Amino acid sequence: MLSKIISSGLLGIDGYLIDVEVDLSNGLPAFDLVGLPDSAVKESRERVRTAIKNSGFTFPIKRITVNLAPAHMKKEGPAFDLPIALGILCSMGLFPISSLKNTLILGELSLDGSIRSVNGVLPMVYHAKQRGISHCIVPFENAQEAAIVKGIEVYPFATLIEAVSFLQHKKEMAPFTIDLASFFAQKTEEGLMDFSEVKGQENAKRALEIAAGGYHNVLLIGPPGTGKTMLAKRIATILPDLTLEESIEITKIYSVAGLLQSKNTLIHKRPFRSPHHTISPSALTGGGRIPRPGEISLAHNGILFLDELPEFQRNALEIMRQPLEDGNVTISRVNGTLTYPAHFMLIAAMNPCPCGYLGDKERCHCSFHEISKYHNKISGPLLDRIDLMVELPSLSYATLESASYGESSAQIKQRVLQAQQIQLERYQKEPFYFNSQMGAVEIEQYCPLGAKEKTLLQSAFDHMNLSARAYHKILKAARTVADLEGSQNISAKHIAEVIQYRSLDRKYKL
Ligand SMILES: Nc1ncnc2c1ncn2[C@@H]1O[C@H](COP(=O)(O)OP(=O)(O)OP(=O)(O)O)[C@@H](O)[C@H]1O
Ligand SMILES: [Mg+2]
Repeated sequence: MLSKIISSGLLGIDGYLIDVEVDLSNGLPAFDLVGLPDSAVKESRERVRTAIKNSGFTFPIKRITVNLAPAHMKKEGPAFDLPIALGILCSMGLFPISSLKNTLILGELSLDGSIRSVNGVLPMVYHAKQRGISHCIVPFENAQEAAIVKGIEVYPFATLIEAVSFLQHKKEMAPFTIDLASFFAQKTEEGLMDFSEVKGQENAKRALEIAAGGYHNVLLIGPPGTGKTMLAKRIATILPDLTLEESIEITKIYSVAGLLQSKNTLIHKRPFRSPHHTISPSALTGGGRIPRPGEISLAHNGILFLDELPEFQRNALEIMRQPLEDGNVTISRVNGTLTYPAHFMLIAAMNPCPCGYLGDKERCHCSFHEISKYHNKISGPLLDRIDLMVELPSLSYATLESASYGESSAQIKQRVLQAQQIQLERYQKEPFYFNSQMGAVEIEQYCPLGAKEKTLLQSAFDHMNLSARAYHKILKAARTVADLEGSQNISAKHIAEVIQYRSLDRKYKL
């Protein structure tokens, strides 16, 4: 007898439906699996056989053929265990085929018959709902994740026996639901940080406010222990709160990467990722044999913090160029290309020289050659995508021990929100949202300068020996400074402020 079950696979962060067809026929006992399965799927035969036996059912001594359709897509992972097992039991007549109608089934099986969680449940259930599927059976641990999708009934189970008795209508149960609005509203209070905890460093704080205002990328340069990491970790506190859509988008990526914890199913904090500088290019951008979102996708809608920028492998940084421009990353694989979203704010940090204490005659013995070698490790094209560079001085004892705290994150956030609102209105008809995303043509259109401003910029170029690449960045950042003030025009004051974030160009020959 033939039974057909709906299951799902993943392509990037989107699900696609897979039909699991199971046929039992007379003949020599065999268990064949066809339809381009990978090795984890092939191994599912052994898990299914043992799980069925250990759940107290008899495994049929028949010729079993399982086909995963469409046949041209490679099937990966263990999520087909449960659909295959239920297909076999249905073909044996344990429950009617009609009870599987319009039902998505996902889950890995343990040898003892319990159902284990699988990655990517949220995008798979989401896609199934869009395709008109009305019910889904998922592992118990993935229940909350699946219930984020509205309009599809979620039935979570912990064991194969429970799932079978539900399909036999022995077990009456209501679908699992969560109150999404209140779930989203319960922000985690623990670990809340605030800008006011960072003492001094007013210049850097202001640069980060501008960065948040127009989604500019920033490079922080300073000796060890001056608060670079501290500041970077606090940027999320001055960015707008996540919308529900953004939150679901991030959760999808984490679901595919297998990083969702059941107690924290919907991600409602902007991601902050700080990969170590030894990270490989594919771990940074995603990919690998079994495709997995990389750090830049895990930082989607949040912050990617690259500490010790010059220590990163050069080719790891080079391949970030396209994602920084497009907001997504495309990975080529044998059977096609995958696209993961990767729209993040890049905050990079570095020391001014290899030892970190440039300018301190007693501590720094770095030679000129060593210093320039250190700076040359950062690729020019990457620097091209960084609009603001700010130097953090060493803190004096007086500043550190002073009790005065600066502005709170909430106060800064007010100005950031206002600036972003202005940009959203201004760029309504454009294919982009924020100042940092403007190209040369748009800069000309949206950043007109008066005579006074032009003179100032001209003299800055002459005296500071600025590179051509600095020109557009100054204008983009100046636009954000004007927006933070709610000013229609870019004035000389705004330009003067952002020029100081380019002085490093000349100093370090970046
Ligand atoms: N501006 C500051 N205000 C208050 N505390 C600070 C400040 N700067 C540094 N600290 C203290 O020093 C510690 C180290 O700071 P942080 O890790 O941010 O330094 P860093 O600049 O990232 O250094 P490194 O270059 O070594 O990575 C902080 O945890 C904090 O206790
Ligand atoms: Mg640090």
